[in-house]
Amino acid sequence: MTPDLQRRVQRYGWDRAANHYETYWKAQLKPAQSAALEEAALQPGETVLDVACGTGLATLPAARSVGPNGSVVATDISETMVQMTRDAAASESLSWVTAERMDAEALSVGAASFDAALCVLGLMYVPDPVAALKQVRNTLRPGGRFVAAVWGARSNCGWAEIFPIVDSRVNTDVCPLFFQLGTGETLATTFDMAGYGNISQRRLNVDLRYETADEAIGAAFAGGPVALAYARFDDVTRDAAHAEYLASIEQYKNGTGFHIPGEFVIVTGTLPAGSAS
Ligand SMILES: C[S@@+](CC[C@H](N)C(=O)[O-])C[C@H]1O[C@@H](n2cnc3c(N)ncnc32)[C@H](O)[C@@H]1O
Repeated sequence: MTPDLQRRVQRYGWDRAANHYETYWKAQLKPAQSAALEEAALQPGETVLDVACGTGLATLPAARSVGPNGSVVATDISETMVQMTRDAAASESLSWVTAERMDAEALSVGAASFDAALCVLGLMYVPDPVAALKQVRNTLRPGGRFVAAVWGARSNCGWAEIFPIVDSRVNTDVCPLFFQLGTGETLATTFDMAGYGNISQRRLNVDLRYETADEAIGAAFAGGPVALAYARFDDVTRDAAHAEYLASIEQYKNGTGFHIPGEFVIVTGTLPAGSAS
């Protein structure tokens, strides 16, 4: 898949997934967002960039932390996601949040203007993560910090079979590097390659809990990165893909639902004080 096609698949796929996203993923992803926000340790009055903001699950708590004397600029490649973040901020009267559609590899925000940047579970979808990290670096003030969270190693993510199950039916290869960033020290090394210093990495192991098989299926197919390919399945293909996915998570059955293991990797990098790039 070319980088341009990957971006289009992400853009229109997440447009489709947006309305299902919080139903299936809000509770399950909270540990990753909380850990990233904890690492960022945002202070009142700070300026924050949130890259790949989705529906705003990290944007809004960031906005509450910095308060009205600060500001948060939220960006995402999906216009539907951007609009949902705008709406969520407006519903809480967080007027210091703005949201704009923007590719993580082409950030048109002020250079050297943010105290901190976040990217929670977005970098796996970006064709060139080093380029995105360099873009973020250029937006940070001297001494600014960037915290990114990604999914961990494939072997620690029990839902990982969703990709081959979908790819074998539509040959999409949606996210060729999906689990690579979360394997070993890859994300920390990527920060290093992009020019960050003082890099720290931590891993977080979680259970993704779903009460029913339908919820587990909804999260994997309609609410996540394969949503665009899935939308094109006919009924027979859907039923077969659902059955294959349920078989792949059978070992995580818990009563009527599932406790699927997942892993997040959270990396923080900092710019030297007194140097913007
Ligand atoms: C799993 S969601 C994470 C959203 C949010 N940060 C959160 O913690 O809930 C991934 C997001 O990455 C966005 N995305 C994918 N590729 C992107 C790119 N190249 N540039 C910016 N955003 C991208 C998607 O549109 C989607 O909203």
